[in-house]
Amino acid sequence: MARILLIIGGGIAAYKAAELVRHARKGGHEVTPVLTDGAQHFVTPMSLAALAESPVYTSLWDLKDEVEMGHIELSRAADHVLVCPATAGLIAKMAAGLATDLATTLLLATDKPVTVAPAMNVRMWEHPATQRNIAQLRADGINVLDPDEGPMACGEFGPGRLPDPEAILAALPLGDATTPPLAGAEGPLTGKHVLVTAGPTHEPIDPVRVLANKSSGKQGFAIAQAAAAAGARVTLIAGPVSLPTPFGVSRIDVTTAQEMHDAVMTSLPADVAVMVAAVADWRPQPSDKKLKKGDGPLELKFSSNPDILATLGEHPDRPGLLIGFAAETHDVIENAKGKRERKKADWIVANDVSGDVMGGDRNTIHLVTADRVDDWEEATKHAVAQKLIDRISDTIS
Ligand code: CTP
Repeated sequence: MARILLIIGGGIAAYKAAELVRHARKGGHEVTPVLTDGAQHFVTPMSLAALAESPVYTSLWDLKDEVEMGHIELSRAADHVLVCPATAGLIAKMAAGLATDLATTLLLATDKPVTVAPAMNVRMWEHPATQRNIAQLRADGINVLDPDEGPMACGEFGPGRLPDPEAILAALPLGDATTPPLAGAEGPLTGKHVLVTAGPTHEPIDPVRVLANKSSGKQGFAIAQAAAAAGARVTLIAGPVSLPTPFGVSRIDVTTAQEMHDAVMTSLPADVAVMVAAVADWRPQPSDKKLKKGDGPLELKFSSNPDILATLGEHPDRPGLLIGFAAETHDVIENAKGKRERKKADWIVANDVSGDVMGGDRNTIHLVTADRVDDWEEATKHAVAQKLIDRISDTIS
């Protein structure tokens, strides 16, 4: 059970904060809501007070509140501060250290870990000023979640949507038996080392060109995040992606399949390895000079890359639970079963990538184990990650 100080910013996603309060309460957490002036145009203090079963704070200048619980005390009484939704304006104030109202004053006065869940129009999210502010918050040690991508209330499409309340709660480093605990603290995977690969690999063709694939890294990053939240020590070996490092995860960035292989091998031993990366099977012999148009028609000669999953399957330090992914466009289950045996993995998480799974936020998977195949319903990549980590926890504990 944790005490969450929930700061609600003034954006359309504020109504989702009410849903988040409900989930948090169901998980046994105490929630103290604080609303900015803007937030009160979207949700009322009354509905939040009812859902949170707690007083709701809105003003720095409420004499009664200030006498009962001063704002400094309020900022420190919680175990964790969550800003949800964090609007572009609120993020800008946080980055600048402005204290202009109760919410921003609490954020400046707190000595507790802070998580920020941004939600805004895609142009506002992509604006260089917002990106600069986000980078500043991360540099200040704040756990900034990535917004989801999809259709927005304003009619546009892109990143900027508030993630699902479950995903936000799963990303909070909270200590308790019913929800994921502090990374590195007590949890079902405490004391376990989980190794995750994620993203694509890039194989150079010449100094300026690479062979790549469409993997976004989102599923692997979500798994690393869920493993850390379950208490594991997590090593995330990431190909070239522009995702932020999940809270409590130690990350090694690599470019090529060979580098990913080497990083995995030097990160052993591990109790669990989840190989989510889309590793290039082949690499061309790169030219050391930039290839010119006149050099064509081009012929590339390929040699094979090491198969990281298969190498782990036969390694003397083979992780106790070895899990591979299989991105397939046809004969999904049959191909996955074949891969499980060939690569000596315990489980294969198979997904059909003939649609827009790669780069998207949702996934439909089939878990292929030695004796059965479980078909999971389509869900967000965060929900898939949580379910997989729950299954891993049940299996190895
Ligand atoms: N994998 C790996 N190293 C490679 C290729 C794949 O570790 N060089 C891992 C992936 O991370 C994934 C699993 O093996 O966990 C299956 O990857 P996939 O690309 O689907 O399999 P391939 O062996 O490349 O099979 P195919 O190209 O025939 O589908």
